[in-house]
Amino acid sequence: MPKKSFLKMFAAVADHQPIFIRSLKSAACVTGSLCILFSMAACQKLKPAATTPNGTTAAYPAVQSTFSSTINLNALENYAAQPIPGYIKKDNTGTDPITNAGATLGRVLFYDKNLSVTNTIACASCHKQSMAFGDNVIQSQGANGLTARHAMRLVNARFAQEVRFFWDKRASTLEDQTTQPIQNHNEMGYSGLNGDPDINALIAKLQGINYYKELFTFVYGDATITQARMQNAMAQFIRSIQSFDSKFDAGMAATGNLNANFPNFTAQENLGKSLFISRPSPPGSPVITGAGCQSCHRAPEFDIDPTSRDNGIIGVAGNPLLIDVTSVNPPSLRNLLDPTGKVNGLYMHDGSINNLAAVIDHYNQIVINPLNTNLDPKLRPGGQPQNLRLSQAQKDALAAFLSTLSGNDVYTNKKWSSPFISF
Ligand code: HEC
Ligand code: HEC
Repeated sequence: MPKKSFLKMFAAVADHQPIFIRSLKSAACVTGSLCILFSMAACQKLKPAATTPNGTTAAYPAVQSTFSSTINLNALENYAAQPIPGYIKKDNTGTDPITNAGATLGRVLFYDKNLSVTNTIACASCHKQSMAFGDNVIQSQGANGLTARHAMRLVNARFAQEVRFFWDKRASTLEDQTTQPIQNHNEMGYSGLNGDPDINALIAKLQGINYYKELFTFVYGDATITQARMQNAMAQFIRSIQSFDSKFDAGMAATGNLNANFPNFTAQENLGKSLFISRPSPPGSPVITGAGCQSCHRAPEFDIDPTSRDNGIIGVAGNPLLIDVTSVNPPSLRNLLDPTGKVNGLYMHDGSINNLAAVIDHYNQIVINPLNTNLDPKLRPGGQPQNLRLSQAQKDALAAFLSTLSGNDVYTNKKWSSPFISF
């Protein structure tokens, strides 16, 4: 090959094909004269490089060697511009809009076991993609012990009116939420209390990891790690986890009207939808037409009404002597089941319900515990415990409708999967 065109080709691939360059390097550097030619200028460029969102060039050999085929900083996954159906109006994004670079860093943090004191627990240990980012056990295993409540599904966390997070809303934003598990003694163990290292110890640890030097530089322009940068990146990744490919969405797209019969639904599913969105029939009425779910879990986002109070489930996981009337903020009711119809983990803050029929039975006949000081007034009309009087066929229809709220893509799409080769 003439030297000139070889050089031209080398220049063309230098920015895009790091692996090819490597093989060129070894080929070039065994032939002594070429090596001198390349080692000065060109071989400096052998480290893979990417153009950062700020327009500068950053090298990323450690990202390349750690994540190999799963992350390519020159061809990021689409997190920022995913299609969102027009009928989805609620969005809790504040001042931290999703960027492809930020969500990519968030993905690495979410799956990185280095975020725990024991180097054994990642966020994804409890929030599993195969379960809509929930967990199958009542209390999840953390670095130093079990969680106090059941792990929540994270799908469509963005599409809600409520901006606060956790069952009891103790995190004021999703950003604020993301570092709380890190600072929880049981979960990830950087609490700074009772002999635990604090979050600055974690930051120092991450600061020493080469792929974070490269990723933080790529996203933020320098390698400095701060709690705020971590929070923003993880919140962007979580807000990107969306699911709008359900049978329900196909029906909404076809009709544009929640109240219309969906042409793609069975008669049973349409009956279930009608029961879900209609108010409970008043006591004494001869015909039962509603179950009243919509007044709290609002379709089409199925987010919880921020004014909702307790729903009558007041157990505490692992401690039958205590009660919890503060868990009023469930995740979206989308993806309660996986695509095969299996329950995604368990339901309610105490993980006390493991199937949809039992959920519906709970609401059909509310049992009021006298210790419950926070039961939502909607569930005790006229001071009496709610009694929906649903027939078995109506209960089955409601369950059939709830099972139309599951998508497929979110369980397998690799943009939300672990970037680590072995996880
Ligand atoms: C040991 C298991 C465990 C680990 C590790 C864990 N979580 Fe969780 N997560 C939970 C539990 C349990 C809850 C509910 C806790 C509560 O409300 O009191 C939860 C709640 C959440 C919520 C609130 C969802 C909502 O709709 O309000 C988000 C977001 C979340 N976790 C993200 C993360 C992130 C990010 C990490 C890693 C930094 C992480 N979790 C690590 C178990 C875990
Ligand atoms: C008064 C408001 C209200 C009404 C009405 C209501 N819910 Fe709920 N729902 C809640 C609250 C609050 C929670 C979280 C409870 C907890 O875990 O302590 C919840 C939790 C759930 C869960 C568990 C979610 C999860 O991820 O674990 C399901 C499923 C559910 N409701 C279905 C329904 C159905 C079906 C109806 C209608 C029959 C209904 N709800 C009516 C407030 C309500």
